[in-house]
Amino acid sequence: MTAGFKKLPEPAPVPAQDESIRPRSLEDFIGQDELRANLRVYLEAARERGKALDHTLFYGNPGLGKTTLAQIMAAELGVNVVCSSGPVLERSGDLAAILTNLGRHDILFVDEIHRMPVVVEEVLYPAMEDFKLDLVIGQGPAARTVKIDLEPFTLVGATTRMGLLSSPLRDRFGIVARLEYYNPAELARVVRRTAAILNVHVSENGALEIGRRSRGTPRIANRLLRRVRDFALVHGNGRITAEQAVQALERMEVDENGLDQMDRKFLTVLIEHYDGGPVGIKTLAAACSEDVRTLEDIYEPYLIQCGFLKRTPRGRMATGKAYAHLKMLA
Ligand SMILES: Nc1ncnc2c1ncn2[C@@H]1O[C@H](COP(=O)(O)OP(=O)(O)OP(=O)(O)O)[C@@H](O)[C@H]1O
Ligand SMILES: [Mg+2]
Repeated sequence: MTAGFKKLPEPAPVPAQDESIRPRSLEDFIGQDELRANLRVYLEAARERGKALDHTLFYGNPGLGKTTLAQIMAAELGVNVVCSSGPVLERSGDLAAILTNLGRHDILFVDEIHRMPVVVEEVLYPAMEDFKLDLVIGQGPAARTVKIDLEPFTLVGATTRMGLLSSPLRDRFGIVARLEYYNPAELARVVRRTAAILNVHVSENGALEIGRRSRGTPRIANRLLRRVRDFALVHGNGRITAEQAVQALERMEVDENGLDQMDRKFLTVLIEHYDGGPVGIKTLAAACSEDVRTLEDIYEPYLIQCGFLKRTPRGRMATGKAYAHLKMLA
C-alpha cells in the first residue's frame, strides 16, 4: 500500500432489489437531458467509427446515476462491463489482471476512482493512452519490463470528488460529465417509474410530494417511495396519495425541503453551539458524532445547494435562510 493512501470502509453493497429498478437504456434514464443527448452522440459516433468509446469520467454526488450510466453505456454498445472500484484495486497486479482479460471494446468501470492508489494509477496511464501495459517482472538488477498489448477498451470512471483526482488521470479522459441534482418533477417521474415496477399505486401529486423531498437524488426518491408504501399499506389501502405521502414523510422526519434529522442537527449545532459559524468541518463532525467524509459527501452538498450553508475559507457558516427554515433567531 502506498503512503498516504488510507483504507476507508467499503460502501454498502447494493441490495438486489435495486437492480430491478435500475434503468437499462438511455431511453429509460430520466433527467440529465443535456448529458443524455451528448452521450447518445458519442455512443453513436463510436459505433459508426467501429472504435472503442473514449474514456469517460462521471462525477457528481452519491445516488445521481453514475453507476447506472456506466451500465447503460455498455448495454447500448453491446459490450461487456467489468466493475471494480478504486479502493479494491490495491496493487498494480490487480489492475493488470483485469485489463488483460478485457475483450475488444469492453468497458472497465472503476467506481470511486479518486481512491485508486498512485502505483495502480500509473499502470493505467499507458493502458488508457496506447492500450499497452508496462509490466515489471522480477526485482532488483534482474528486473525487466515487458510490454503487453491490450484490446482497445473504454475506461468509465466515477467519482464523488472531482477535486481529489490527480490531474494526469483527469486529463486522460476524453469525456468528462457532471451529474446534477434532479428537479422535483424529474424525481416524481423516477418515483412513478419505480412504483410501476414495484406494482405500487401512486397518484401524480403523491409522486411529486416524494420527489420534492428527495434531496434531488433518485436513490433517495426510491428509498422514500418504499417507506411511504409501507405506511400506505399499514395505515391506508396501499395506494399512495399526496396526503398519505406527506403524513408518512413527516413520520420519517423528512421535512418539506427534504432535510432529515441529520441535516437539521448539522444546522442546529452550527447555529446553537457556534453562533452560525464560521467553524471548521472537523469540529462540526465531532459535535454531530458523524465522520467528516459523510458530512462532506452526503450532507453538505445538498445544504449548500439549498442555500442553507456556505463554505468559506474560515469554515462553514449557516445562512439567513437556515435560521428562517429552523425558525431560529439570528
Ligand atoms: N436518471 C435516473 N432515472 C431513474 N432512476 C435512476 C436514475 N439515476 C439513478 N437512478 C436510480 O438511483 C439508484 C442510484 O443510482 P446509481 O447507483 O447509478 O448512483 P451513483 O451515482 O452510482 O451513486 P454512488 O456515488 O453512491 O455510487 C439506482 O439504483 C437507480 O435505480
Ligand atoms: Mg455508484
